[in-house]
Amino acid sequence: MMVSTDPIKVYDDVLVPRLLEPWVAALLDRLALARNEALIDVATGPGTVTRAAAERVGPGGAVTGCDVSAEMLAVAADKPLPAGSAAIEYEVCSAETLTAADRSFDVLTCQQGLQFFPDRAGALAEMHRVLRPGGRLGLAVWCDVDQSPPFAAVATAVDRVLGAGAGVAYRGGPWGLADPELLVALVRGAGFRSVRVEREVVPVVFERGASQLLSTLVCTPVAAQIAELDSRNRRRLYDQCRRALRPFTVDGAVVSETASHIVTARK
Ligand SMILES: C[S@@+](CC[C@H](N)C(=O)[O-])C[C@H]1O[C@@H](n2cnc3c(N)ncnc32)[C@H](O)[C@@H]1O
Repeated sequence: MMVSTDPIKVYDDVLVPRLLEPWVAALLDRLALARNEALIDVATGPGTVTRAAAERVGPGGAVTGCDVSAEMLAVAADKPLPAGSAAIEYEVCSAETLTAADRSFDVLTCQQGLQFFPDRAGALAEMHRVLRPGGRLGLAVWCDVDQSPPFAAVATAVDRVLGAGAGVAYRGGPWGLADPELLVALVRGAGFRSVRVEREVVPVVFERGASQLLSTLVCTPVAAQIAELDSRNRRRLYDQCRRALRPFTVDGAVVSETASHIVTARK
């Protein structure tokens, strides 16, 4: 089978159903979304949270998804909406300069986005601005990579083959904002109150095993370095990864768990 190397396609086809969608309920349940509410999802990517939120707020509600990537939003906009959902608007904008008006949403979500923003404090100030007084904030941010064992295994193999600098870049991408105290300080610093951080663990399965997980390396900060490897070193990297993933490989599938912080707060 031909494996895509387009990071957006791989993200949507491989990572969203296995790694991102299984977290949506954990985030939305904590926010107790009500019918007819207005929600904005920041760094929405291919609309992982928006469609579930649109179903929960119903046709009288309103959902906006924004992201800096027009390509991601094109994938989101192409997805069918469940019956009885709110309409969803997608807008290209950075989290640091939201186009939404002041005090225009009841709820704001951001699932696995904050760690990537160049100006996290600026983005949180924008999130505070667009929420109504009393509005609810819900963020999901991965815990340290060591708490998501298959990805820690890949990080170790990246260290060995590409060098420690690459390992640091790999760990610092999605897992680069793992300190819960720093999360609380950032969210409080933007003016939010009742800030709460909970750690949650959710199962993850790559049913086609190590090669399926390794196909997602094109979505990581080390993608360019891997693309430059000669065939011998690429094979070395994949062999090291497969070996490191053996403890989590069951009947050909990688079976494990991932851990994320979920932050909730009020304006
Ligand atoms: C790991 S994906 C998460 C996407 C989505 N929330 C999900 O759960 O699948 C991170 C997203 O953050 C977006 N992003 C990165 N920097 C951004 C910024 N400064 N402003 C807005 N979006 C940004 C990327 O384009 C990408 O779609």
